[in-house]
Amino acid sequence: MDKTTVKDIEVTGRRVLVRVDFNVPLDEEGKITDDSRIKATLPTIEYLIEAGARVILCSHLGRPGGKADNGLSLAIVGQRLSQILRHPVAVTKDCIGPEVEMAVAILDDGDVLLLENLRFHAEEEKGGTAFAQALARLAEVYVNDAFGTCHRTHASIVDITNYLPAVAGLLLEKELNALGSILEAPTHPFGVLLGGAKVSDKVGMLDNIMSKVDRILIGGGMAATFLKAKSYEVGLSLIDDSLDTAASLIEKAVSNGVELVLPDDVVVTNEISSQAQVQSVAIRDIPPDKRIVDIGTLTISRFTKELEKCQTVFWNGPMGIYEIARFAEGTRAMARIIAGLNAITVVGGGSTAEIVTEMKLADKMTFVSTGGGASLKFLSGNPLPGVEALLDKKS
Ligand code: 3PG
Repeated sequence: MDKTTVKDIEVTGRRVLVRVDFNVPLDEEGKITDDSRIKATLPTIEYLIEAGARVILCSHLGRPGGKADNGLSLAIVGQRLSQILRHPVAVTKDCIGPEVEMAVAILDDGDVLLLENLRFHAEEEKGGTAFAQALARLAEVYVNDAFGTCHRTHASIVDITNYLPAVAGLLLEKELNALGSILEAPTHPFGVLLGGAKVSDKVGMLDNIMSKVDRILIGGGMAATFLKAKSYEVGLSLIDDSLDTAASLIEKAVSNGVELVLPDDVVVTNEISSQAQVQSVAIRDIPPDKRIVDIGTLTISRFTKELEKCQTVFWNGPMGIYEIARFAEGTRAMARIIAGLNAITVVGGGSTAEIVTEMKLADKMTFVSTGGGASLKFLSGNPLPGVEALLDKKS
């Protein structure tokens, strides 16, 4: 990584504003269901506490649309962070303004303060000079440790770097090194397993990695679009508007000598519910009144064989509607297989990371990214605005 990091600068006694991604999943009661993103920031926070910095954390949570929303308050995250860190974490009622400035002014070296949800202000997402300046006034140094949000051009990610010396946190550094190494120098054979609903989310990434991978396995909702592009009937399965794109990716795979593996069989149903009747069918027999909700057992075996041949595996996206137990077997089987591989295994963030964590398999993977959209954008070869904005390492 060619950016200056928090370890390259003086932080003792200084007010350090750390942008983290505490956008954690919450259940219907507002409880945190996966705290991996909080735990992942501990190295930076602990480093700063030990170095005697005055740590001011800021983050978004959910998409409140520029208005205060109690259900998306970071107070609950502050409590969890405090438990994990075994250190008091005060939480402010807003992220800018005189009260926040007072709370910052009384911080001692080693104290930790968490600001309220940045997205309670519309200027955060719109990007805004006044908002970024108000945040910048709180600190002397800015650290970006929010890999999961670095694909956004938001005020606390990009604009703020105009007003404070801006460096990378330790999680950001780790993410860029882990994802960068599979992009730049993967150990071959390199296989990519993709799922999730839409082809359009993955096109940029597929385009970019085509010249670097040996095989691509496709499951999940997006497999229907690829099957349709190969003239299979896919019943009521959702086809996004990427049919032509899928066809050209199939051609591109052929011209790059990449093995593109689609399901041989799928699980179908006519009802998306936990009581649904399911049926496993070969891809040439998908009934017109049913839709694909998972990969079938033949496909699980085929994908397993293909993954076992790989030395590097990247996985992003579930194999079906995994939130419903009877459509989750393909996704869960892939998680177990990848966790057991004797290979470099990298898992994209978002729902894929949540599944792996929920199955207690995260520590069996080489690396689990905390970024969903951000990891796809990075692997599509596009610069991440949040990373670009940071100071380059001095040579
Ligand atoms: C994520 O969960 O991918 C990041 O926190 C970014 O959130 P966003 O998609 O709402 O910008």
